[in-house]
Amino acid sequence: MRKLNPIVPLLFAWIATAPCFAQSGNTNTKQEAKPATETLTEKSVNVAELLDAEAFKPKFLDTTTAPTTIAFGSCNRVTMSQSMWDHVAVNNPNLWIWLGDIIYADTADMKALAAHYRRLKTNPEYKKLRDKTQIIGIYDDHDYGFNDACKYYPMKRSAKKCLMDFLDIPLNSPVRKRDGAYQSYTFGKVGQKIKVIIMDLRWFRDSLVPDPSKEKRYNPSLDGEMLGETQWAWLEEELRNNTANLTILCSSIQVLSDEHGYEKWGNFPNERKRLLKLIGATKPKNLLILSGDRHMAEISKIQLEGLTYPLYDFTSSGMTHIRSAGPETNKFRVGEMIVKKNFGLLRIRWEGEKPVVTMEVRGQQNEKFMEETVRY
Ligand SMILES: [Fe+2]
Repeated sequence: MRKLNPIVPLLFAWIATAPCFAQSGNTNTKQEAKPATETLTEKSVNVAELLDAEAFKPKFLDTTTAPTTIAFGSCNRVTMSQSMWDHVAVNNPNLWIWLGDIIYADTADMKALAAHYRRLKTNPEYKKLRDKTQIIGIYDDHDYGFNDACKYYPMKRSAKKCLMDFLDIPLNSPVRKRDGAYQSYTFGKVGQKIKVIIMDLRWFRDSLVPDPSKEKRYNPSLDGEMLGETQWAWLEEELRNNTANLTILCSSIQVLSDEHGYEKWGNFPNERKRLLKLIGATKPKNLLILSGDRHMAEISKIQLEGLTYPLYDFTSSGMTHIRSAGPETNKFRVGEMIVKKNFGLLRIRWEGEKPVVTMEVRGQQNEKFMEETVRY
């Protein structure tokens, strides 16, 4: 019989009492009914996957040209159908951004985590997209550790390495060496540059505060941290030292939508205020937020003090499964809440140095559910 790594049961015991987890009182669901699927474990070694040299040949990022079509998504249970990729590819995106929950591993067993990434990277449809589309991104909770995981997750260094390997981040990249997986990329040339800033909302995030009344999952934490001071300093520098004509700020969880009881920046209201104040103070030329995590899609919009343009938070999730909970209110929502499997699309054209961005929510067959155009 195969011996179980002795650390695995210890880690599962730790998870059951972990600060970011045990207090929630609800350990196995977010907002969707969990579908029955295959479970990938450390024993899930598929020889054909291991021998797929083409799938693991690193593809390094070329930032010389600004993307005109950016697709993004989150919440992709890799043991479920991956047929959406062909429909994403029809749009010829130059860039795909993962907004987290790339896979659902929910394990402290790093071999099992790697097996999930391997399953996705060798998926024939995903390979076709990867052939012609650059890919960047970040983890969220289910690919970092477990549901709603935070800074106390003990396997975070290994989980980050698995993500870095999956994304072909070069071994000498500074992001490999520092704490956290936050990254930024600037594409294109003077006058029509696009900067993509990707925050890490797991590595430094404090524990959530459960609502004892159970009316909602979490109560606001007034002194909890979301980014940590090192990442805050980095983000401020990225926003201040920024010559881009369009900045895309990626957040695995929602920034603007604030009325629901699940994960959101609003669970740390002072951190949310700090982020919005920083954006207002640094005044990036045309900033748009992308988010995921919610197993539904929506577009939120506010007029932020300090900005001359509306600030949007475009949420797209999930790719393989959606929420089962009923409707929810969001005073910042533009248009409908889309509770269908979806991915997000940005079509970017330029009027001189000003971008015109069309946000589209698209479904499994590439059907368009909603669009909103912003002329910056
Ligand atoms: Fe998530």
